[in-house]
Amino acid sequence: MDSRFDDAVLAGDGFRLSPLGEGDVEDVTSACRDETTQRWLPLPKPYTADAARGFIQEMAPEMHTSGAGLVRRIEIAGRLCGVIDLKNTDWLVRQTEIGYWVAPWARGRGLAGKASRVLSDWAMSDQGMARVVIQCATGNKASQKAAESAGFIHEGVARSAGLVHSGRVDLAVYSKIASDLHLA
Ligand SMILES: CC(C)(COP(=O)(O)OP(=O)(O)OC[C@H]1O[C@@H](n2cnc3c(N)ncnc32)[C@H](O)[C@@H]1OP(=O)(O)O)[C@@H](O)C(=O)NCCC(=O)NCCS
Repeated sequence: MDSRFDDAVLAGDGFRLSPLGEGDVEDVTSACRDETTQRWLPLPKPYTADAARGFIQEMAPEMHTSGAGLVRRIEIAGRLCGVIDLKNTDWLVRQTEIGYWVAPWARGRGLAGKASRVLSDWAMSDQGMARVVIQCATGNKASQKAAESAGFIHEGVARSAGLVHSGRVDLAVYSKIASDLHLA
């Protein structure tokens, strides 16, 4: 089996998961400057257009070619509405982790949960993963709801396992395993 995800475009109900492009710099910059995004993700602060360019042109392609993961834009009618990725992939254990943010202009429609369901199900049914994890700060209720709505099961809390700008946080750990796919 390849130790790299297919560079696939995935279709969801009313959205697509597709590769980021040069045209996304402005939207990524704006979404990553957002207060809620900055609260829960340890992104560069202030977040500049150069940071967005580096993410799109270097970090995302490197994640794919190294086998570490896959970065997709969450797209509705051609507009970037968020970013979701597979990361920290262990090809021996066949485990990977999902991370996401949804742009302020697209929140409130459950997009993170819907995109996580599509990406995790594909990672297991098509790409050989046996386990997908989502970890979010225990205070990040919207993210926990997203994980639950994507069919992930709460496993417990990893103490002091995360870092945000305000300091260390406990992480709620969620997982979906291959046998869960048959439950839905
Ligand atoms: C987490 C995030 C991706 C969710 O975006 P989304 O998919 O648009 O989520 P929604 O706004 O539709 O909210 C999902 C659920 O959480 C609930 N929710 C939203 N904000 C909430 C809050 N502050 N407290 C409690 N519940 C909240 C919503 O009511 C909704 O509940 P429902 O499923 O019962 O209807 C988005 O808030 C975000 O980008 N946050 C910043 C980055 C981030 O936290 N990334 C994840 C790091 S682990």
